[in-house]
Amino acid sequence: MRTLKNFPEGFYWGGATAANQIEGAWDVDGKGISIADVMTEGSFGEPRRITRGIVEGEYYPAHEAIDFYHHYKEDIALFAEMGLKMYRLSIAWSRIFPDSNSDTPNEKGLEFYDKVFKELKKYNIEPLVTIYHNDLPYHFVEECNGWSSRKVLDQYLELCKVLFTRYKNDVKYWITFNEINDLTVPLGNWNHGGILHEGTKYFVDQVDDPNMRYQALHNQMVASAEAVVIGKKINPEFQFGSMICHITVYPHTCHPDDVLLAQREDLIRNCFCGDVMHRGEYPYYALRYFEENDIQIEMTEADKAILKEGICDFYTFSYYMTICKSADPNTAQTSGNIMGGAKNPYLEVNEWDWQIDPKGLRYTLNHVYDRYRLPVMITENGLGARDVVEADGQIHDDYRIEYTRQHIQQMQEAITDGVELVGYTSWGIIDVVSCSTGEMDKRYGFIHVDKDNHGNGTLKRTKKDSFHWYKKVIETNGQEL
Ligand code: BG6
Repeated sequence: MRTLKNFPEGFYWGGATAANQIEGAWDVDGKGISIADVMTEGSFGEPRRITRGIVEGEYYPAHEAIDFYHHYKEDIALFAEMGLKMYRLSIAWSRIFPDSNSDTPNEKGLEFYDKVFKELKKYNIEPLVTIYHNDLPYHFVEECNGWSSRKVLDQYLELCKVLFTRYKNDVKYWITFNEINDLTVPLGNWNHGGILHEGTKYFVDQVDDPNMRYQALHNQMVASAEAVVIGKKINPEFQFGSMICHITVYPHTCHPDDVLLAQREDLIRNCFCGDVMHRGEYPYYALRYFEENDIQIEMTEADKAILKEGICDFYTFSYYMTICKSADPNTAQTSGNIMGGAKNPYLEVNEWDWQIDPKGLRYTLNHVYDRYRLPVMITENGLGARDVVEADGQIHDDYRIEYTRQHIQQMQEAITDGVELVGYTSWGIIDVVSCSTGEMDKRYGFIHVDKDNHGNGTLKRTKKDSFHWYKKVIETNGQEL
């Protein structure tokens, strides 16, 4: 007989957001400019632009976002009503260290997060804090081309020391970098690395220097390891997670060329960073990839030692889609999160051409658990979709419920397979500004926010049908889907 295992007691049902996509208040209480603050609006057909500094007359969606900065109490009360056990949020670095002259942290910025953590505690919601999520303080871009410079690594560690000390009793679970593997693809230069080359205009089409990009990635992996070491000295109870943007790769056919291509892609895009962060050294396959792509990074003996020492405690990843790899250049392509690939004829896509693949989540969970044998969390997953507000103000998002239900069913299958899955923080628990397109119309939330792509709206929060559905899922610990 086929019986599925239940979700474990204490499973972290949750929701996730990032500071730059929700907080707004971009210049309030001493906050400095971040790289998210210089990205214009866009849409699926019209790419977001990157401007050098703030240009008058441009619309920058991050500046107000959904104004969580002034609505956090109301929003956290809604999270509590939904029954969230965990809330994944990120810290806006430029709120704490606004500009190049700030050698002491901005007290107002720290107070904001004091208040957020206090509110979460009130409702027994466990915070999961991402230290760095796509919002490097902008001055680093002009001063040293972002993470390509070790200067940023040092400053990141200063930030970590401040956060770990200040919030040592408020936060137990930390993620050092959101989707650290974004720097394995050119798109990551800007929003993940703060690297801007002359000639880059559009977020989706950036001038690339792979050597510099992999150096920046190396600097981040070293930073992550050092942060783990520093953090554990400040509070040995701290638990650190990696965070990988997992674009699961299938071979397009069983032709050995496709199979090999898929394997190579999976190793370098999905496994490389996790291998370094959990196994403490560069994997064997990276060496050939570096050689063949003429990548030479500077890695000191001290770097090697710290990578070994500062390994992460649990594995987390974002999961939205899968892609295929094909050796045939004429294969139809699909778009995707940080990268697209060959189209899978068996899958449907959302309006933004991201393939929907719930079973791929079970496959991925087994893949990563088998590799690391560590507790696993899915720290992002959700459906970007256009919602319709009915005349009575309600939002009937049955498509989002269906998407989430199917993914949760596959999580249960994976748990039954034996995977130690400990949490699920649904992405964009409340509507947020889309990272890739800058739209509000690409909505993920179970809570609707009245705001359009151009900054109009009352910012009123409304519970969607999915809100009530997810509340039931949490209440029944996943028994009632
Ligand atoms: C992840 C990012 O890659 O994808 C989030 O960590 C992002 O910041 C999410 O919002 C969904 O992507 P998008 O482009 O639909 O907002």
